Amino acid sequence: LDLQRHNTFGLPARARFGTTITHAGQLAPLLAEAAAMHLPLRVLGGGSNVVLRPHFEGVIALMGIAGRDIVGTHGDHTLVQIGAGENWHSIVEWTLGQGLPGLENLASIPGTVGAAPIQNIGAYGLELVDRFHSLQAFDATDNSIRSFDRDECEFAYRQSFFKRAPGRFIVLSVTLALPNDWRPNLAYPGLIDIPADADAKTIMDRVVAIRASKLPDWRVTGNAGSFFHNPIVEPEVAQAIAAEFPSSPRYPAADGRIKLSAAWLIERAGFKGHTHGAAGVSPNHALVVVNNGGATQAEITDLAAEIVAGVAARFGVQLVQEPELL
Ligand code: EPU
Repeated sequence: LDLQRHNTFGLPARARFGTTITHAGQLAPLLAEAAAMHLPLRVLGGGSNVVLRPHFEGVIALMGIAGRDIVGTHGDHTLVQIGAGENWHSIVEWTLGQGLPGLENLASIPGTVGAAPIQNIGAYGLELVDRFHSLQAFDATDNSIRSFDRDECEFAYRQSFFKRAPGRFIVLSVTLALPNDWRPNLAYPGLIDIPADADAKTIMDRVVAIRASKLPDWRVTGNAGSFFHNPIVEPEVAQAIAAEFPSSPRYPAADGRIKLSAAWLIERAGFKGHTHGAAGVSPNHALVVVNNGGATQAEITDLAAEIVAGVAARFGVQLVQEPELL
């Protein structure tokens, strides 16, 4: 299977075998087939958070399970159940069209609904966990289908239970809880000037516009969004940086720790616009690694290693990569 069209970095990549999953019943026989060939099986959603190697000696299952249903209420929330293969942004638009606001701050995030809980997608003051009810996942270790509620998913900043056990669980559907007493969430810089009585569509349109102005369009210039997590550090580390750069971005995080801006650190370490072969750091946003045309996985990972070493040497902060190497 040619995977170049199936990863937003646009890296040239092939898998030994590939197929599309449109219903959960296909998974057990497919896993058995892969096991008989001694090949690993991995599921790919929108390919928006992976750095693919040129050849994957295994089976790639493209997640294509569809479905969007309003399934009931839970307290003062409306529950919608979405198939894992649905495009995330289409679902944001669909829920708003159904008169169900709540996802507008998460507009324009590339990828599928099934991938959203893996890294607890977040943007503009909202995380998936804030709108999450439960999910159904296929457990590849015993072919069972299990339901996970919000606590069981162990969501944190760009983290979940599933991210710590790569490949074991295949998300089949996600049930979202959308607030009936919706109020706009306008705390994030860039949204604060929106009037407090604005509707969700207005907020969605603004988020789409901000993202389009800051983040390169992967259809034009391959990328995987933010390439590193924003690092959460001990207060002493943040204080040392603040002593030198009083205006450096710092946000309070859990346990008295401080979240720093990876984009800021990368820019100040001198990497904004830096290139390595056909891989580069976006000149518009230092947190985005881009494929300037014909980049390979090796060029991307070499550039990433250069950035990690440079930021560690300059600021003593260890950056953690967001997209998975596959
Ligand atoms: N900044 C720089 N240099 C740059 C770009 C930004 O110094 O080249 C500084 C800005 O001045 C700002 C700070 O970095 O103070 C934060 O920038 P931005 O608002 O663009 O957000 P971010 O922290 O870089 C995070 C998420 C994004 C999400 C935005 C908006 C992570 C890893 N990334 O980016 O998520 O869209 O906030 O909420 O948390 C993604 O995960 O792929 C992603 C795009």
